[in-house]
Amino acid sequence: MTRLDLPARPRRNRKSAAIRDAVRETWLGPEHFIYPLFIHEGADDIPINSMPGRARLSPDGLLREVDRALALGLRSVVLFPAIPDPLKTSDGREAHNDEGLIPRTIRTLARRWPELVIVTDVALDPYSSDGHDGIVAPDGRILNDETVEVLVEQALCHARAGAHVISPSDMMDGRVGAIRYGLDQAGFTEVSILAYTAKYASAFYGPFREALDSAPKHGDKKTYQMDPANVREALREVELDEAEGADMIMVKPAGPYLDVIRAVREATPLPVAAYQVSGEYAMLKAASERGWLDERKVVMESLIAIRRAGADVILSYFAPEAAAWLRAGSP
Ligand code: PBG
Repeated sequence: MTRLDLPARPRRNRKSAAIRDAVRETWLGPEHFIYPLFIHEGADDIPINSMPGRARLSPDGLLREVDRALALGLRSVVLFPAIPDPLKTSDGREAHNDEGLIPRTIRTLARRWPELVIVTDVALDPYSSDGHDGIVAPDGRILNDETVEVLVEQALCHARAGAHVISPSDMMDGRVGAIRYGLDQAGFTEVSILAYTAKYASAFYGPFREALDSAPKHGDKKTYQMDPANVREALREVELDEAEGADMIMVKPAGPYLDVIRAVREATPLPVAAYQVSGEYAMLKAASERGWLDERKVVMESLIAIRRAGADVILSYFAPEAAAWLRAGSP
């Protein structure tokens, strides 16, 4: 038996749970999560096929789910509406109807739970008859400046209803600055903007589009969402959103884009959020259901990896499970 002559043995710092706990560099808590919720007007909660365990929630179902989330220590939710087809138009005007599903839901939640942080998504896709985040010209182009005007109206509608954080996910140029200006002019200087800064044209959004029935009718989103091959471009978006007044910067998706999260983390002093999207949820869920992966372990590992890459905040459909597992002693 030869003993290697090694002055440095990294394993010494892993030799017991107490030492591992003492030297751990990254941790997760319920305070790090924003819980995305799908809502609709119907009387029942409708399960989402490709997202086992998640549903389009009815108004009552939403109250039950928020109650459950709060009891687990979660404090923030982000709302996504499924809008009936007859209310969808080419200009997405239902997006700023003060009596629409989102503003009514915001008012209900804010009244019931004043401490709950209510985040809302700003983009036209749930309201667009074309299934695009922006207004589509007859020749198929997505019109930037015309869309931004509607997004400002949408943001104001959410702010009037009592939203705390507005989260533009549309990727139009200049929308963060325009929304900031619009909010400030209307006196909503305390409403925050969580900008989807580096949002990629990703196939991992598939289950979300099933959940909301919001897939584009024609074409794809590549003229506004980013090319998955790019990272320098993300830094350019960071500079712009910072200058335009974003309070937090988001990278989306999360797991396949950890290098982008790291690059953004190093480029900005702002808090960084990352969105573990519907397709990431679906993958982990599907493999776990087949017994191919241990759900609890892979979910916690995927979330700590996102934090380690540099995210402060994580939007995740696993938020309630993760919060429960953390309570039960998961690292
Ligand atoms: C819409 C929006 C999307 C997501 C969040 N906001 C879908 C898209 O851009 O097509 C995706 C979230 C997910 O997949 O979980 N603006």
